[in-house]
Amino acid sequence: MPEVKFLGHSCVTITEGAHKLVIDPFISDNPKAPVKADDIDANYVLLTHGHGDHVGDAITIAKRNKATVIANFELASLCASQGVDIHPLHIGGSHKFDFGRVKLTIAHHGGGYGPDASRYTGPACGFLVTIGGVTVYHSGDTGLFYDMKLIGEMNRIDLAFLPIGDNFTMGVDDAVKAVEFLKPAKVVPIHYDTWDIIAEDPKRFAEKVSGSEVVVLQPGQGLKL
Ligand code: NI
Ligand code: MN
Repeated sequence: MPEVKFLGHSCVTITEGAHKLVIDPFISDNPKAPVKADDIDANYVLLTHGHGDHVGDAITIAKRNKATVIANFELASLCASQGVDIHPLHIGGSHKFDFGRVKLTIAHHGGGYGPDASRYTGPACGFLVTIGGVTVYHSGDTGLFYDMKLIGEMNRIDLAFLPIGDNFTMGVDDAVKAVEFLKPAKVVPIHYDTWDIIAEDPKRFAEKVSGSEVVVLQPGQGLKL
């Protein structure tokens, strides 16, 4: 039975038995992080895109755990150049790993690594992760896009992680529309309140969503699927 945990901003862990995945481990520079990067055990580090608030501590976590980084080809290649094992994917492609399947989905957002975001890291992406019989969708940073309807039609999503913080990603109203398209059983809002510029009250999102259960997780909280 997979268990997910929200570690603030866009960082999520998915654990099933010995399989430990972490998505977008932005820990050390996150003022709201409930853990230290050194506390993260992971076999796989999944990165949605190259921005600093997503790559975060990925390299040090991957090195310490001898974990494999899963990301789009350009971002994965950049990680490989820093000495970690990688499995590159690209949009629309999926691969069966020992824990389950990962498919890379589109996202409407940028990608660039480094202090001035100048190193090309390919397009931003989202993930469909199928593990232990459940499917988790992590959209990464994105605006609303109509293909979410297709993602919802082609996958029975048990849990979706969607940004609601506006400014850099969907805000509440667009995220509510995304839930309509994706039809997940449960949805957890992410990418809000890390800084003032993406301040949002998740209750506003919860009140507007119908047909899916909104689960608001504080950093450090999780749920079993
Ligand atoms: Ni971003
Ligand atoms: Mn971001």
